Amino acid sequence: MSFITITNLRKTYQMGREKVHALADVSLSVEPNTFWAVMGPSGSGKSTLLYLLGGLDRPSSGEIRVGDKSIGTLDENGLASYRQQTIGFIFQSFNLIPSLSALDNVAFPMRFARVPRQPRYARAFELLQRVGLADRIHHKPTELSGGQQQRVAVARALVNNPQLILADEPTGNLDTASGSSIMQLLADLHQNGRTVLVVTHDPRMTAYATNTVHMLDGRIVTDAEYEAATTIH
Ligand SMILES: Nc1ncnc2c1ncn2[C@@H]1O[C@H](COP(=O)(O)OP(=O)(O)O)[C@@H](O)[C@H]1O
Ligand SMILES: [Mg+2]
Repeated sequence: MSFITITNLRKTYQMGREKVHALADVSLSVEPNTFWAVMGPSGSGKSTLLYLLGGLDRPSSGEIRVGDKSIGTLDENGLASYRQQTIGFIFQSFNLIPSLSALDNVAFPMRFARVPRQPRYARAFELLQRVGLADRIHHKPTELSGGQQQRVAVARALVNNPQLILADEPTGNLDTASGSSIMQLLADLHQNGRTVLVVTHDPRMTAYATNTVHMLDGRIVTDAEYEAATTIH
């Protein structure tokens, strides 16, 4: 049984009089506990695909099923609890709250899940420990390196123990060594039974991936089509 089934997914943006087909027609079946690398040039629809999957935006048409839920049929509350319970999202630019310490950043989303203060902070500490930042919990984002900030963001993505991890170019702003440690963390999450989808330009990520898809112009294309379109003759 597939964990995720995406069927004829489209997302169209109206820009003045122009229509932009960010996703032209995407169908994809994702088995549980797989690790996907999503590759493709800038503007090919990778972020749009991840955002729709994460319930951060709604499709123009088509269907996304995750587990037993059809994401398109959820109302705002349903979508909010889907994001909270099922999804851990990691962004290229970390998206931490600048005024909060690492510990507070990780504890913060648990407020919305109504976790009481004591277990909230115990869990935040445990997660920061797991990503190797036990000695940085009181540092604010500006007092951390890019790699450390992204590790805080990974810890934050895990607070509600999501089944599905979505990461949009998580190593895009990092040096090679920090990027490798983030890839290793994502690989560990996959080893621990989660399903992971990572948008990446880094060919090293494909070494961890169980599956690789290439996108061009809002579509998933075959490896051969991708080679033909991106190779300069
Ligand atoms: N909010 C938006 N409004 C209008 N156009 C958008 C919006 N978001 C994305 N697009 C367009 O959709 C296409 C796909 O974008 P995106 O999914 O961000 O690509 P990628 O992540 O592969 O670089 C691009 O042409 C982009 O300009
Ligand atoms: Mg993008």
